[in-house]
Amino acid sequence: MSHLLGLARAARLMGVSRAALQQRIKEGNLHAMDGMITTEELLKAYPDISLEDAGAFEKTLKIKEEAFVRRVRERSLPPKEVLAERLFEQGRELADVKLHLQRYHALVTGLQSDLQGLMERSGPAAREALRQVERWVEGGLRRVLGETEALDSLALMDDMLRVMSAHVTLRPSHHDFLVEGADSILEAGLKAGLALNYGCSTGNCGLCKARVISGQVMKIRHFDYVLTEAEKQQGYTLMCCHSPVGDVTLETLEANSAQDIPTQQIIARVKSVQALSPDMRLLHLQTPRSSRLRFLAGQSLTLGVAGAGTAELAIASCPCDDRNLQFHVERGQGDSFGAFVFDRLKVGDSVSLYGPWGDYLLDDESQHALLFIAFGRGFGPTKSMVEHALAREAAERIDLAWAAAPGGHYMVNQCRYWADALDNFGYRSYELRAPDGAEMERFAARILADYPDAGNHAIYLAGPAEYLEPALANLAGAGLPHARMRVIVC
Ligand code: FES
Repeated sequence: MSHLLGLARAARLMGVSRAALQQRIKEGNLHAMDGMITTEELLKAYPDISLEDAGAFEKTLKIKEEAFVRRVRERSLPPKEVLAERLFEQGRELADVKLHLQRYHALVTGLQSDLQGLMERSGPAAREALRQVERWVEGGLRRVLGETEALDSLALMDDMLRVMSAHVTLRPSHHDFLVEGADSILEAGLKAGLALNYGCSTGNCGLCKARVISGQVMKIRHFDYVLTEAEKQQGYTLMCCHSPVGDVTLETLEANSAQDIPTQQIIARVKSVQALSPDMRLLHLQTPRSSRLRFLAGQSLTLGVAGAGTAELAIASCPCDDRNLQFHVERGQGDSFGAFVFDRLKVGDSVSLYGPWGDYLLDDESQHALLFIAFGRGFGPTKSMVEHALAREAAERIDLAWAAAPGGHYMVNQCRYWADALDNFGYRSYELRAPDGAEMERFAARILADYPDAGNHAIYLAGPAEYLEPALANLAGAGLPHARMRVIVC
């Protein structure tokens, strides 16, 4: 018997991205109705999936998690109260199904004995007709009981997935995601690349309030914020301190633009300063637990250090990890600030953060494949955008083209890893001698040759101004649509 699955669950079960499933639906290779797919259709679309290999599913998840460079890599179990409630719900569903099966069994055995009785009382012609009915019933039973092993396995995997995770749908956006392990609704939503409304993440500010429209949520963390009686009666909950018991629908606000993100001022600590290359440092800052930074992928922050002044730097990490902020700092960048990071900044030092700024953001509504073009240190904001795009699973195809002076590439293993782990990700590197007109003209020609359908992509360019200005002029001159290019100077 086939089983209905939402897109998020179907993608999880098959170990593919949601974008890959959407692509198949668009090509007509997979039939979906109202966003639901039957297990039968899934098996038709992925006939080679090995359901016996239980590790394949986990392996794919792990590869994707590694690809997202998420800080918390261990996938812990849901809290025991949530787990107990989910198991209880499943037990209840199972008891319902068992009752139904017993009724069907009684119906079929009753039918078979009625047929026998009728045959005994009938003449030869009617007996033959009844025998045919009997054979038809037996054949149908054999087919249902004997030929559905793969469907059963898929349904069984889905049942297991329902114990380990719950599906959340948001209104009015219709965005959806799975909450896995010990994550709160807020953490899971951020990991899914959604710009949910929130503040402290620790149950103090009330900014993550959402109304439960259907389903049940359970408290997994202590919170001090007090919901009014009226809010409780209307079903309001705090997303940062609750997890769904089963599938839920919530009404909540999401940021749609940079203007929806408040300006914040936070004192963070240096967690590490790591050499990425002789001229590039990875600055890792950590905010206090109770004061995380809310930002969108592609945005920048003003960093200030006593004795080094301030500098506006693009954030190189994913908004899904709002406590651990990364920046790629080039030697000499931001005058004295860059030099300070290279020579004097140490673990534990305080850094003031002010922002976020900028609207170099991913157009979540765009249906176009994504082409990221980074120049030198422009890889920093590009990395943040790529991680966000991977988390959103929105694009069917993502390509990264990274151009730098000889020796100017760093973290190349990260780029190769994305390309190896994900079927829909491509990476190419380019060397540029100087950002002059002739060199950039050659570069634009190479981009057009390497990405012949770039005209149909949404293009995101990031890097120092001396590269971006000639690059933009040459790419637009070569026919790439200016209106579909977004730029960040960093
Ligand atoms: S984010 Fe502050 S209470 Fe949830």
